[in-house]
Amino acid sequence: MNKIFKVNRKIDPFRKIITVEGDKSLSIRWVLISSLSKKKSIALNLLKSEDVLNAISCIKLLGSKVKFSKNKCEIIGNGLNQNYKKKIVLNAGNSGTLGRLILGLLVNSNKKIKLIGDKSLSKRDFSRVTIPLRKFGAKFSRSKNLPLEMKGINNPKPISYLEKKGSAQCKTAIMLAALKTEGVTTIKAKKSRDHTELMFKYLKIPIIVQKKDKKFDQIKIYGVKKVSPLNYKIPGDISSCAFFIVLTLLSKKSQLLIKNININPTRIGMIKILKMMGASIKFLNKRYYKGEKVSDILIKSSKNLKGINCPVRYNSSAIDEFLVIFLVAARSKGTSYFKDLSELNQKESPRLKLASKILKFMGVKNVMTRSTIKIVGNPNLEVKKKISVKNFSKDHRIFMMSVIAALTCGGRWKINDQDSIKTSFPKFLEILKKIKQR
Ligand code: S3P
Repeated sequence: MNKIFKVNRKIDPFRKIITVEGDKSLSIRWVLISSLSKKKSIALNLLKSEDVLNAISCIKLLGSKVKFSKNKCEIIGNGLNQNYKKKIVLNAGNSGTLGRLILGLLVNSNKKIKLIGDKSLSKRDFSRVTIPLRKFGAKFSRSKNLPLEMKGINNPKPISYLEKKGSAQCKTAIMLAALKTEGVTTIKAKKSRDHTELMFKYLKIPIIVQKKDKKFDQIKIYGVKKVSPLNYKIPGDISSCAFFIVLTLLSKKSQLLIKNININPTRIGMIKILKMMGASIKFLNKRYYKGEKVSDILIKSSKNLKGINCPVRYNSSAIDEFLVIFLVAARSKGTSYFKDLSELNQKESPRLKLASKILKFMGVKNVMTRSTIKIVGNPNLEVKKKISVKNFSKDHRIFMMSVIAALTCGGRWKINDQDSIKTSFPKFLEILKKIKQR
């Protein structure tokens, strides 16, 4: 359904305390890894979004038993060998993470599986996982796009692989496949989010992670005979916070405290970039939970933001947040440069292209190439016109970026496809309403 969300005025100053829903990367990983244990795993605060619900539907089809009530999800999996009877069709919906990870998980499936997804996912590149999974011995009907069929192999062989893109999805697909082998798989991987490594370590799955150099890690994973259950209380998602962080920074006389957020160092590139630009953001009450860093985040309105030449070393750890970082650049003094971002066009929509377009609608001068964008900032930016955001492949993050742009920069906006938020952050508008309440 195409619900249109309208914004006609900027948000008034606010001071609020909020929480956001559970982290999406952790939620999908918890579902898939729990399906490998024959004992009961329990998660609290699992994200109840379409991407995670699709992960649950997939593991149910593969034989896991799942109970998901209000705030508690229980999974009894069916172990490391997926021995289902007939050919199965798995639907990953909109989720690249689910689609790519589940192929790794099924490297040893004894029957064909067909993987399908929505229109956006069907355009995305799956060769980043089919290439390494072929090395394990899996066979595919197509290498690049969905729908595709995969036939696993009974005894997958461990592999050595160089992962150059910095894709955590690719790295994790290989790590899941490695569990099913007899032997050691070695991945030299460009640094990316390391939630799977931390979960494996917590579960005592034999894994050695060594820093190779500034850009690459070497990961060795040993095949296992069984996986223990994983009880987990999922902390809040920094990628969901990103929208409210920028809302606060760009609003007058406002303050926001967001409680219990995962601040894994591989996920907080955005905070580092925004602090370089002069943003007031503090981590309070830092602690560890099962290897993950967690904290509360205090954000205050920030005047005097300045443009930057954004260091590429933060690209991977800020990859899902660039849309709102670009908004901050648009409201900063001076010009900002962002480089080496071709991966942004490989997401749910071509995000670099669409962000540049939306900024232009707003009257923000910017020059974009295949992998770079230069944004000319203006601290006094006031949008006066009517803006209509449509045809953005129903990308949840383009929708939320547009809402934040409207609330902080003004103008009369009509933003299509409100339902897109259901994939990652179904409570986005409900929490926004709470922030707006006097
Ligand atoms: C994710 C990895 C990233 C990120 C995505 C979630 C994950 O994708 O953009 O939203 O949970 O592993 P890539 O692996 O394609 O960089």
